Amino acid sequence: MPASRFLNTLLSIVRIFRSKPCRRTSRCTRTVTNLAGLRFVQLVDDHAKPWELFDLSKDRSETKKMKTSMLCSALAFAWLVALNAARANEPLATFQPGQIWNDTSGKPINAHGGGILFHGGVYYWYGEFKEGRTYLSQVNKTWGGTRVIAGGVSCYSSTNLYDWKNEGLALPSVAEDPDHDLACEKVIERPKVIYNAKTKQFVMWLHQDSPDYAAAHSGVAVSDSPTGPFKYLGSFRPNAGVWPINVTARDKDQNATNFLARDFPGGQMARDMTLLVDDDGKAYQFYASEENGTLHVSQLTDDYLKPAGIYGRILVGRSTEAPAVFKHNGKYYLIASGCSGWDPNTARSAVADHIFGPWTELGNPCRGANADKTFFCQSTFVLPVAGQTNQFIAMFDLWKKWDLQDSRCVWLPLAFDTDGKPVVQWRDQWSLPVPEK
Ligand code: GAL
Repeated sequence: MPASRFLNTLLSIVRIFRSKPCRRTSRCTRTVTNLAGLRFVQLVDDHAKPWELFDLSKDRSETKKMKTSMLCSALAFAWLVALNAARANEPLATFQPGQIWNDTSGKPINAHGGGILFHGGVYYWYGEFKEGRTYLSQVNKTWGGTRVIAGGVSCYSSTNLYDWKNEGLALPSVAEDPDHDLACEKVIERPKVIYNAKTKQFVMWLHQDSPDYAAAHSGVAVSDSPTGPFKYLGSFRPNAGVWPINVTARDKDQNATNFLARDFPGGQMARDMTLLVDDDGKAYQFYASEENGTLHVSQLTDDYLKPAGIYGRILVGRSTEAPAVFKHNGKYYLIASGCSGWDPNTARSAVADHIFGPWTELGNPCRGANADKTFFCQSTFVLPVAGQTNQFIAMFDLWKKWDLQDSRCVWLPLAFDTDGKPVVQWRDQWSLPVPEK
């Protein structure tokens, strides 16, 4: 409806509403409107005001009825307009992989390489806080390891997985002391948080490293509250002086390419990592070790603060990074990437009956356009949706290598095909629950 017509209709409604009874038709010159059998007229004598209407009907109760019905219609219309306006401000309850995802304050969510803890009916999302200029320092030039200064670990909370409230930095980086593990110049990546029901503490593990990624440490922090502040306990290379449970005589040979034996005394290298709490409450760290060549699965102590000294080598020599581990129908599943820095490669998946293996590779779980490049992303976490069976969210990072702070979150539904293999199908937009086939 054109604006002028809409305005005229509105004016007529107001006039009719304010109309006064009138029997003296002689002064009338013009019938303005004829509505539901009722006639309204405008008087044009010296005293008449142009906006006034007079009702010529004999039965006033008919006019009253009409006015009531008009009032009801107007109220219903106003309510609809208000509802639509309110809806326009509501965030959409859909995931939009790769698009900017704002938190509840309207700022893009800044939580990369992270994971989610579900605790007390609330989801807590922890990730790398990346802010500032991306740079490529001399020490990482050969392999293109661009960086932004380490910002610490951010935390967001949500009850519905779509709307996330920024809870601030759960573990900030340290600006004042360049030697500190959490110094801005150093590396703080892939943080994960689990809850220890015995100690009632929230335990964070992360990849802590020197600016050139040579230290390859695991850092640990604890907090009484899921949103922090977390107390940093320090970092180390796990499992110093301990052979893995599946070690062979050859694995113990000292030679130039045997990184397991090389690092036996001082502890194993630990870079990309994730955590899993099993059904029996035991927790495990999965970390890329042996110069990123082999994954280790390392059991944690009962308080989750240290390695328990029991670990296994899995996917030996497969250069697996970005591990995301979850459990389904009693089996352990892993989604991961190959090893090519921020550049995407083909994702991989694996399954095991026992956490220490043997793990059987199941191939690339991704489907759809650019599935061979993991949709230009890299895995970080698989979240079983609380209270819903067979609903999993596969979380990825779409790294912007030359503008790391603009890296995006890509969340996609993870399902299982008829052979029981995990499948991640690209979607431009989607919502939970995803119907099962
Ligand atoms: C990736 C790794 C990331 C980050 C990056 C640095 O391979 O998965 O977490 O360390 O390299 O280039």
